Amino acid sequence: MAVRVDLNISLDGFATTTDQTPENPFGPDWARLTDAYTATRTFRARVLHDTSGEGTTGVDDDYAQAYFAEVGAEIMGAGMFGLHNFGDDPDWRGWWGDEPPFHVPVFVLTHTPRPSLEMDGGTTFHFLAASPREALDLALRAAGGTDVRIGGGPTVVREFLKAGLVDRLHVAIVPILLGSGIRLWDDLRGLEDGYTVTSVVAPSGVTHLTFAR
Ligand SMILES: NC(=O)c1ccc[n+]([C@@H]2O[C@H](COP(=O)([O-])OP(=O)(O)OC[C@H]3O[C@@H](n4cnc5c(N)ncnc54)[C@H](OP(=O)(O)O)[C@@H]3O)[C@@H](O)[C@H]2O)c1
Repeated sequence: MAVRVDLNISLDGFATTTDQTPENPFGPDWARLTDAYTATRTFRARVLHDTSGEGTTGVDDDYAQAYFAEVGAEIMGAGMFGLHNFGDDPDWRGWWGDEPPFHVPVFVLTHTPRPSLEMDGGTTFHFLAASPREALDLALRAAGGTDVRIGGGPTVVREFLKAGLVDRLHVAIVPILLGSGIRLWDDLRGLEDGYTVTSVVAPSGVTHLTFAR
């Protein structure tokens, strides 16, 4: 039963992009940041519901498989759920369509909670204001002995890292420079203490860095 994080970041450490427009709410940089991950067979199957077997295999796909394995509950921030973009829309149900790829209870940290949303496929979004420790206790109970993933974004991940609550941090460092956004690593001096740090370079050029207790 571990508390896990997986994030894609740029070489200069940014986990968010800044070139979104109303016409393109993700922006071209988001594709550059996540290309190697979204190209994997696992992402295509789990998120796009593509059962053709298309997609890359190998190192990036191994990490994508590990991302989805053994997670019994997820915690994410208001930003990742989309409340910072669509907070005025009471009908906003997240970015992921009617059947989100989580299939578990998802606890969305927000200072403007709203009623829970039950989606197809076993995902229920619960909205709450809570400390990282309180949110984690709820998620651990919901996960019933399996892992809890802190899904993102970087603001929430840094809260959990600062509180010392993360057992395994996997960062896919993508060889691009974004120049601006929210950095994962700010104010985390000495984070590596107490972790074993390993890295694996994929043929895509992505370095998979893992901090594990
Ligand atoms: N690179 C990746 O792998 C990756 C993964 C996931 C997401 N993302 C990106 O990350 C971006 C969002 O990240 P972000 O850092 O801006 O935001 P975030 O971490 O998703 O959410 C932060 C917000 O959550 C709320 N919050 C945080 N802690 C709270 C607490 N203890 N109690 C109550 N509310 C709390 C606050 O919002 P309010 O005060 O407004 O409620 C806070 O501003 C998205 O653009 C997404 O694309 C990237």
